[in-house]
Amino acid sequence: MKVGVTGAGGQLGRLVVQKLLERGRPEDIVAIVRDRMKVADLAEAGVEIRVAVYDDRQALDAAVAGLDKLLLISSSEVGHRVLQHKNVIDAAKAAGVKHLIYTSAPKATTSTLVVAPEHKATEEYLLASGLPYTILRNNWYTENYAQAIRTAATKGELVAAVGAARVASASRADYAEAAAAVLLGEGHEGRIYELSGDRAWDYRELADVIAEVTGRPCTYKAVTPPELVAVMVAAGVDEAMAKGAAALEASIAEGGLAEATPDLAALIGRPPTPLKETVTKVLG
Ligand SMILES: NC(=O)c1ccc[n+]([C@@H]2O[C@H](COP(=O)([O-])OP(=O)(O)OC[C@H]3O[C@@H](n4cnc5c(N)ncnc54)[C@H](OP(=O)(O)O)[C@@H]3O)[C@@H](O)[C@H]2O)c1
Repeated sequence: MKVGVTGAGGQLGRLVVQKLLERGRPEDIVAIVRDRMKVADLAEAGVEIRVAVYDDRQALDAAVAGLDKLLLISSSEVGHRVLQHKNVIDAAKAAGVKHLIYTSAPKATTSTLVVAPEHKATEEYLLASGLPYTILRNNWYTENYAQAIRTAATKGELVAAVGAARVASASRADYAEAAAAVLLGEGHEGRIYELSGDRAWDYRELADVIAEVTGRPCTYKAVTPPELVAVMVAAGVDEAMAKGAAALEASIAEGGLAEATPDLAALIGRPPTPLKETVTKVLG
């Protein structure tokens, strides 16, 4: 069985390929990338590398040819993703791929998270395509907070515009392991998994964990979205980016990441990585 992974040069994709390598034969794995140079180590390990950008349908047709299963890792080019994902789904359908797995967002079809609409549109297109599918609705990666954790560890203050929101994050490697389990396993067609850590933490707890790991005080300072923009701009962040981050945090404040489910633990056969373990790794 040949399995393909798009975005295989990215952080999640690379981890998925590594998990596949741990459990299967390199010659059965196809890494689909934009830049062959980024995955020289995977080629060295015997993985087949195919080059395609999501906007190039012809290249995608060649990239997915002969695959039994394909993991479509959502594109990082926000605002362009629906067309890009449609191209991959169309190419997979035309090539006779038997099962397409897509990485989405929590409760994508009903969520108010600012990232949800492109995932919703992709999920709907995938379901309408008639391709056998599995949807992996990944909650946040704890690693998303790496920079915030380092800054908070230095300043003793974790600043965010999420109010009392909770986040049921897990580590990127946990989600990668779940994707590999679906790619190599059976019985996942037609399933929508809500993948998350096994408990939701709030930002006060995150600050407490940072304090515990560093041995220095750290507190959570809740600010409004405009205040967050001001803090970020003062720290040298571009204003448009700061506004985007504040809008995202405002949508997290509405609770879009708060639900912890057992799906991830069930797929990987162990509890997801605890918050403290990832914070320790980030600060290590
Ligand atoms: N759940 C979460 O917390 C969370 C957080 C951030 C992002 N995400 C989503 O999850 C995806 C994977 O996360 P990640 O951490 O692995 O992100 P990442 O490291 O930025 O990887 C994104 C991958 O998409 C590829 N890509 C982007 N535009 C492309 C295009 N036009 N054609 C072909 N490939 C393209 C990139 O190729 P290159 O390697 O050549 O750059 C990269 O491999 C992201 O793309 C995003 O949709 C989820």
